[in-house]
Amino acid sequence: MLDRKTKLSRLIQLGLEVNQISDLDVLLEKILSEARNLVHADAGSIYIKEGDTLKFSYSQNDTLQAKLKPGKKLIYTTFSMPIDNHSIAGFVANNGSTSNIPDAYKISSALPFSFNSDFDKKVGYHTKSILTVPLTNNRKQIIGVLQLINAQDDNDKIISFMDEDEPLIIHFANYAANAIERAQLTRTTIMRMISMAELRDPKETGAHVNRVAAYSLELYEAYARKKGIPQDQIDSQKDALRMAAMLHDVGKVAISDLILKKPGKFTDEEYETMKQHTLLGAQLFRGARSEFDEIAEEVALNHHERWDGKGYPGHINIATGKPLEGHMDNEGHALGKKEEEIPLFGRIVALADVFDALSSKRVYKEAWDEDKVLEAIHEGAGSQFDPELVELFLDITDVLKSIQHRYPDN
Ligand code: C2E
Ligand code: SIN
Ligand code: SIN
Ligand code: FE
Ligand code: FE
Repeated sequence: MLDRKTKLSRLIQLGLEVNQISDLDVLLEKILSEARNLVHADAGSIYIKEGDTLKFSYSQNDTLQAKLKPGKKLIYTTFSMPIDNHSIAGFVANNGSTSNIPDAYKISSALPFSFNSDFDKKVGYHTKSILTVPLTNNRKQIIGVLQLINAQDDNDKIISFMDEDEPLIIHFANYAANAIERAQLTRTTIMRMISMAELRDPKETGAHVNRVAAYSLELYEAYARKKGIPQDQIDSQKDALRMAAMLHDVGKVAISDLILKKPGKFTDEEYETMKQHTLLGAQLFRGARSEFDEIAEEVALNHHERWDGKGYPGHINIATGKPLEGHMDNEGHALGKKEEEIPLFGRIVALADVFDALSSKRVYKEAWDEDKVLEAIHEGAGSQFDPELVELFLDITDVLKSIQHRYPDN
């Protein structure tokens, strides 16, 4: 038992370590910045292959960025297009060849593709030179397309991409393709870790984990909209929050089966042991390197804190599990975090988790009726839960119900 638990922790730790940047979005941002720097391009985009389509996945544009207030992010909409010869990116993905176009508005009619000027018109930009290369992995598979726009000379005048830049960018694109593939693999690995954790806990089925994640996303989106958080920032956190919410109880892999699978009520001592799952989970993600690690640590650690400060594990040092200086009661126990001391994603998953636990049958309890669940959530506003989140939550009960239908138990 212990062996398996140790192995599993090591496996997770190793997985996180081999991926310097495990978060795909952060990686795409870095790749595009580096590629643009290499050839002094004003703008660029990355398309990722999904099945037989290309998904416009990431974009930068210095000229448009400069028109925004400092700190504002450029908003762009993602879209998918077929991998065929009608578009430039489609052509490159389809044929694995590089395309170097001096002027997007003067593409020879002999070529199969044309330039789509919708984006230029919509945002008031003028695209001229375009260098488009395939993102090819070590197995020679095309996983996407890197597109650089408007090369500039030293005076920021738009020029063509030089022929001698092509091999440089192609080489970089190969390196980038492998890094992207690794980040995609990390996501897949995380999904596998989740199913391994599920196997251990009969109460926490795959359906439970999916529902908690889906409720959490809905709640976050409602909250973010209310607070005016920009859509692109919401989008960039959604994937990380989804995986973090799915992993909220991953620390249970380190709790003994005798406790985890106990058919009846816990003794006080058993409950104290079970409470360690918050700390143990957080420890798996320590040393946060990517946005995902950070959010996963936050959620694992804080999903059993209570708004009124009566939750657990409270103000502790994650490395040692000991209470923090100045945050202890007379008996030396850590004081619970209170109100906004509890990070937002912890408050969100706490609510989603209890809503689902009450709505579901567990080895130690029956499922509650919907009315009773909603009443309990309502009553928990300001004591167990963030009252602002409860209000938003009770406003989207129709969405919550559709999630229950989408992920039924077994
Ligand atoms: P879980 O089953 O996913 O429950 C998550 C949280 O939902 C619980 O956190 C609690 O806040 C809430 N909850 C679940 N069932 C009830 C209920 O019948 N009444 C009320 N008022 N709230 C409920 P908590 O208590 O910190 O428990 C954490 C985890 O410990 C639970 O996750 C479950 O895996 C385990 N657990 C807790 N109590 C027992 C128990 O008496 N027997 C067993 N076998 N497991 C327990
Ligand atoms: C990994 O990054 O490959 C491991 C995923 C996890 O943290 O569960
Ligand atoms: C969502 O909450 O946005 C959808 C949940 C899912 O697709 O898993
Ligand atoms: Fe938990
Ligand atoms: Fe749970």
